[in-house]
Amino acid sequence: MLSSAEYIQLSLESNLFWVRIMKEHAIFIESAMPPPLNHIARQAEHFKQQFAVLLSETIRHANGLVSSGALQSGQYYTNFTEAAEQAVQNSTGIGTDGYLTQMEYNIEPLTTYSITPETEDAVNQLNGYILNMVNAFAAFKADLLDNQSACRIFTLLYTADISHILHEAQRYIQLLTGLQNKDENFNQNYAEFWNQNMAEHAKSMRGLFDPSETAFINEADRYGRVFDALAQVPTISALPDTKDISAFKATATQGMLSCKVKAIMSPLYTDHNLREANHYIHLMQP
Ligand SMILES: [Fe+2]
Ligand SMILES: [Fe+2]
Repeated sequence: MLSSAEYIQLSLESNLFWVRIMKEHAIFIESAMPPPLNHIARQAEHFKQQFAVLLSETIRHANGLVSSGALQSGQYYTNFTEAAEQAVQNSTGIGTDGYLTQMEYNIEPLTTYSITPETEDAVNQLNGYILNMVNAFAAFKADLLDNQSACRIFTLLYTADISHILHEAQRYIQLLTGLQNKDENFNQNYAEFWNQNMAEHAKSMRGLFDPSETAFINEADRYGRVFDALAQVPTISALPDTKDISAFKATATQGMLSCKVKAIMSPLYTDHNLREANHYIHLMQP
């Protein structure tokens, strides 16, 4: 059973990571809809706005209540996030809420004085709102996956990527449900989930680099095999390889932002995958 203090801290640390991830999935969906699917793009825009509100609420509550280790792990933002958000906003016209990233720079780390009697109720209510929204978003992604799998729609997202972001929503629902029950094992089997997730990032990125980027394609292909192997044996520590794939994603993001690496993925997509690797690293070395 989690103590109240643990429940508050772990909820806010998880939400700071996951709500932004959900918000960006909405941006990726919105930007990948061809004109006949404008109505789906509009629904995705609506989800993005709802998650932006929830992220802003999470940031407000998190002040003084999350560990400095979590804040410095590179799972909430990286050196590239703000520039990547700006680049996507410029190229797609979709608002990316860079002000939220700037707000995150100023979150104060944990002090024992920050918890008031109202804090737990506020976090409980916030978790409840988020859980409702993620449930709705998971249903939306499941619909998208069904329709594309049956060839009723065509989007510019890999079917495997739609499945990937659906699994992330389902994972977050599972975590929030565990947290709401104050279950201390709320994040069990995380290595199985994240090894699989890292393998899928590598394979999607492999297919989104420009065909002329041979070195990046080969490296992504290698990471796909490395994490496929790790996914078979989740007892082996994935820490060294996850640090390596994190560096690879950072290099790709930086290269794309400086127009030195060609790809049909956005730097926000690779930065997003970078933050997920950093989140996994943080879980392995809390
Ligand atoms: Fe994701
Ligand atoms: Fe992912």
